[in-house]
Amino acid sequence: MRTPFVAGNWKMNLDGARAAALVESIRSAATKTTAVEVGVFPPYPYLADVVRRCEGSSVRVGAQNCHAQNSGAFTGEVAAPMVKDVGATHVILGHSERRQFCGEDDAQVRAKLAAALAHGLVPIVCIGETLAERQAQRTLDVIRRQLDGALAGFSAAQLAPLVIAYEPVWAIGTGMNATPAQAVEVHRFIRASCAERFGAAFAAALRIQYGGSVKPENAAELLSEDEIDGALVGGASLDPRSFLSIVQAATV
Ligand code: PGA
Repeated sequence: MRTPFVAGNWKMNLDGARAAALVESIRSAATKTTAVEVGVFPPYPYLADVVRRCEGSSVRVGAQNCHAQNSGAFTGEVAAPMVKDVGATHVILGHSERRQFCGEDDAQVRAKLAAALAHGLVPIVCIGETLAERQAQRTLDVIRRQLDGALAGFSAAQLAPLVIAYEPVWAIGTGMNATPAQAVEVHRFIRASCAERFGAAFAAALRIQYGGSVKPENAAELLSEDEIDGALVGGASLDPRSFLSIVQAATV
């Protein structure tokens, strides 16, 4: 059985005081359940404080990105060992906003994945098609290309900690979520592709989150699908009540 993983991607929101208040509410409620893994992904400046506030709890803390190199002349970037050094355990890679606004491509996602795995961070690799790609019926081609690009050259053993987030770009921040049937079709395809490449046992254990306008109103129907192993939540993760109600939906 795969334990569902509900992760809050705070993106470039909040300030120190609001980040602290948010994590305190999540921490006290989320520690009561072991049926769901809960994680938060604050902006870099608040990462160390959020890690400290989650010590002794089951809440996972991660960064929203990392660089592929360990150190060097990369002004404005943050390396995987730095993320690890402040006590974070997870990292989101290849989010569509980074692909769209920062020009990240599959090769970069692959290089970042290598860095994250080398430093013992649990990677959440995000993949998903744009609206134009879905309308042109290219969804599964895009997913295959993104998977091939990000995962090429790794062994199943190396990728054991991997989490994949299927996030259709047209569903992110738009209020328009994928239907459970749309999400399940892509999740099955991801699992089958990973089975081909890394074997049936790897694919059976792989957690695939759905992301894109997950909110309390649609969480139950999405998360009750066996194929959907949790959620990567943006907007609704900024409000503790919404986020915890999504966590609750993953426990049933
Ligand atoms: P959203 O964002 O829940 O606000 O659509 C999801 C994400 O970008 O991970």
